[in-house]
Amino acid sequence: MSAVVFPFKREDPEVLLKNVRTAVAHPRVRRVVCVGAEEDECFAAVARAAPNIARSSGKEVEICVQERIGTKRPGKGDGMNSALRYLVANTDHERIHFYDADILSFSEEWITKAEEAADSGYQVVRHYFPRASTDAMITWFITRAGFAILFPRSELPRIEQPLGGELLLTRAVAEALLADPRVQAQSDWGIDTLYTFAMVAGGFSIYETYMGVGKVHKLYGSLADLRTMLVECFEALSALAGASVPGTTLHHVEYQGPVSEAVKAKVGYDIDGTLALLADGWTEREAELLDHFPLAVREGLNPSRRVPRVTCMDDDAWYDTYHVLLREYHSEDPAWRDLLFRLWAARVLAYTFTVAVRGYDLAMYRLHQMVDCYCRRAAGRS
Ligand code: DGY
Repeated sequence: MSAVVFPFKREDPEVLLKNVRTAVAHPRVRRVVCVGAEEDECFAAVARAAPNIARSSGKEVEICVQERIGTKRPGKGDGMNSALRYLVANTDHERIHFYDADILSFSEEWITKAEEAADSGYQVVRHYFPRASTDAMITWFITRAGFAILFPRSELPRIEQPLGGELLLTRAVAEALLADPRVQAQSDWGIDTLYTFAMVAGGFSIYETYMGVGKVHKLYGSLADLRTMLVECFEALSALAGASVPGTTLHHVEYQGPVSEAVKAKVGYDIDGTLALLADGWTEREAELLDHFPLAVREGLNPSRRVPRVTCMDDDAWYDTYHVLLREYHSEDPAWRDLLFRLWAARVLAYTFTVAVRGYDLAMYRLHQMVDCYCRRAAGRS
């Protein structure tokens, strides 16, 4: 029998409680654990409802505040690691599911598909789903690109949604994550990167299930909404440089089904709002740091200080830019964080204006091609 965990912070309690009821009703689930970042209103609402849900279902429904475990900003990483600690120390569940608390399209099918893949022997099951061609911009340009550059011969760049929060782990995987000090230190948004890394580096077998229904959830405004996540995901990834990862991992990806017109037509972020940020508030220090980058990037982006310009940031320029970031970036220097954001925003806008405008199917093809090309180039260097 399995446990289901929902890490949450300031969510709509109606959505979370609906998801809790769905989870407890599943025949494979014996326990649901809601881990709150703090005792907010959502926490109070779930705490009030939990005893009734437990009584009427005959299952365990628990709610707790996350522990302070890691060394980074206290965030989702502490939530996920707190749940693992609790479940491994106090229960005998062989399988632990995680789901983001804000999924509007959550249903028993998410649990069933994960359980079926685990029944066939896989140690990790990760859900992936269709996303707009201009959504998942950290996934594509930071995480998958970075895994390709740092670990080109591993399965890491081939994980469909390495930042996904919907997954199942068997107990052996949970124990490995708890025993890895790098994973336990990662208390912030970098946790998904670290979990994905540790699953592949630990040689666990991985199955990716395709959830055609998608993950209907809250959308973003300008890319500035993703700034903290961007910085934390990049720093988590760059700290892994030099780590060793086996070349062979049993990894199966379910074939993708047809993608709905709604997903294909959706624009993932506010383009005008993001363009304005490119020219906004350059400091002298940031302009100096730009000197570390290749000529094409310097000459392309320098005029952005007055009028936003981005098309210089194509696949090749981003590959070279990423190498400079891996080599030179200092997390304690706020100017580096500002410049990281600006370079990534330029990359996302360039892709939006030159690739995504040409249609969903071509855009997805080109993103996959970019990752393959980075793997080939990086494997050739090492
Ligand atoms: C990503 O890039 O996957 C983040 O969730 C933001 O969309």
